[in-house]
Amino acid sequence: MKKQTNHLDNSPGHLKISSGIIFLISYFFLLLFLPACTVEKPKETPAQQDKLIVVGFSQVGSESDWREGNTKSMLEALSVENGYRLIFDDAQQKQEKQITAIRNFINQGVDYIVLAPTTEQGWDTVLAEAKTAGIPVIIVDRQIEVSDPELFTCWVGSNFLSEGEIAVNWMDHNLPENIRIVHLQGNIGSSAQIGRTEGLAKGMQAHPGWELVFQAPGDFVQAKGQELVQSLLADGTDFDVIYSENDNMAYGAIEALKEKGIQPGKDITIISFDASRDALRLILEGEINLDVECNPKHGPRVRALIEQIERGETPRKYTYVAETFFDASSVTEEIISQRGY
Ligand code: AHR
Repeated sequence: MKKQTNHLDNSPGHLKISSGIIFLISYFFLLLFLPACTVEKPKETPAQQDKLIVVGFSQVGSESDWREGNTKSMLEALSVENGYRLIFDDAQQKQEKQITAIRNFINQGVDYIVLAPTTEQGWDTVLAEAKTAGIPVIIVDRQIEVSDPELFTCWVGSNFLSEGEIAVNWMDHNLPENIRIVHLQGNIGSSAQIGRTEGLAKGMQAHPGWELVFQAPGDFVQAKGQELVQSLLADGTDFDVIYSENDNMAYGAIEALKEKGIQPGKDITIISFDASRDALRLILEGEINLDVECNPKHGPRVRALIEQIERGETPRKYTYVAETFFDASSVTEEIISQRGY
């Protein structure tokens, strides 16, 4: 009689079939879970995924026309068309926001960090973190002071002390011996403020007839420049010259003077820095007397530095940009039309 099999049967033949099924089921589950058990491959950086060079750019803020020109230059130079993915962060003139941005860039595994620093001090810790992560750091515009020069790869920007000295030299040649000076400073601790303030301080030492009647920070912002000069005029402070550490504060100062019927450029000499397009126009119109150039077009310069590093070369540690100055004798419509910021 043919042996009947049922699922309770535990004869050797049945056992053989059951173990085959168990093997197949186990194999199926093994296949299902195998990927989870394998060693995970290191994640590809965004640059490896799409072949773009990823740059995290921590920008000071948007406090001035100069700054906007600088941002534009960086965005244009480090564009997708040029082979870059730029992660842009605006720190609203706050160093703590820049530190957070740099930490975010490190977490995202960017290929380069570009930092336009608010102030010179306070970067050691976060830049040591970038160094540990193996990310090259390029400093642009203002400088930083760190205990270990290896914490950044290189810097490109302006010689702010030289800008201050250019202004003092012009004042020496164009103004009377005795003058009362109002000094509007940029944000304290930034290279642009330190250099331009030091330039004026040296000028004061060399000119006993120069009197500093007022000095205060306006943080490179137009509204603050205006408020400072409004309060000075309300106090009845007498002065002959406004030495404004950037164009936007100068615009504010000019507004404040005009509100009181005082003619900027004639009743009061206006010295400014940046030489942006609108300021050059004000020179033509006679409202600004001297504007020392500060060139914000650093995008192509930063790109050239990255390209050097990509080729395995070591870029020069410090690159100073050549700059000039403008007054009524040198500014022209053609120069204004070519300014670009
Ligand atoms: O660091 C450059 C300075 O910063 C520019 O003179 C000023 O306009 C800007 O905000």
